[in-house]
Amino acid sequence: MKIDIIISADYIRKDIIENKVVVVIDMLRATSVITTALMNGCKKVIPTLTIEEALKLKASIGEKECILGGERKALKIDGFDLSNSPLEYTKEVVEGKTIIITTTNGTRTLTSCLEAKRIFVACMLNVSAIAEKLLSLNEDVVIVNAGTNGQFSMDDFICSGYMINLLCEKDNHDLSDIAKTAKYIYENNTNLIDYIKEARHYNILKSLNLLKDLEY
Ligand code: MLT
Repeated sequence: MKIDIIISADYIRKDIIENKVVVVIDMLRATSVITTALMNGCKKVIPTLTIEEALKLKASIGEKECILGGERKALKIDGFDLSNSPLEYTKEVVEGKTIIITTTNGTRTLTSCLEAKRIFVACMLNVSAIAEKLLSLNEDVVIVNAGTNGQFSMDDFICSGYMINLLCEKDNHDLSDIAKTAKYIYENNTNLIDYIKEARHYNILKSLNLLKDLEY
C-alpha cells in the first residue's frame, strides 16, 4: 500500500484525501479523548467544527443522552460538561452516551476529511489496532496530522511514525518521503517522553498543570 502524511489541518487537500482511507491523528489530545470515550463504552462520538453546532446538536438529540466535550485554548468551554482531558471520559461518565465534541485542531481536522472513503481516529492508545485494521484493508492510506493551529506538530508526527513502523514490520509498503521521515523519527527516538517534551503543545499542556493527561 502507498502511505503518505499530511502535516496539519491547513494542508488537507481534496485531491489527496478523496476516496482514500484516512487516519486522523491528534494525540494531544482530541483523538486520545475520542479513543478513550469509545473504549469506555460511549454510544458514539460526533465531532463538530464549532461550539454553536455542538450546542444545536445537543438540543436536537436531547439533553439526557448527550455529553458536550472539548476545548478552546486547551480549556473547558463555558457551559460544556467535560473538557478535553481524556481522564474525564471514564466509563461511569460516558457509558451509553453520545459525546459531542469540538476542539481547536482535532475536530477541525476530522470535519475537513469528509471526502475520504473512510476515516480512522488514531493516537498512541489505539495505534496497533488501527495498523492491524489497515493491513487487513490493504488500501492506500493518508495519515492526516491535526497539527497545532495549522502548524506541524512533533507529537502527531511521531505517532504517525509509530504506526508506519508497525505497518512496515508486517509488509513492504510504498512510503512517501514524509512517511519515511516519520518512521525514521520514531525509530530514532525510543524515549518517547523525552521527544514529546520538546513539542510546543506538550509545554502548553504542562503549563496548564495537565501533566496527568500527558502521562496517560
Ligand atoms: C485540539 O484539538 O486542538 C486539542 O486536542 C487541543 C488540546 O486540548 O490539547
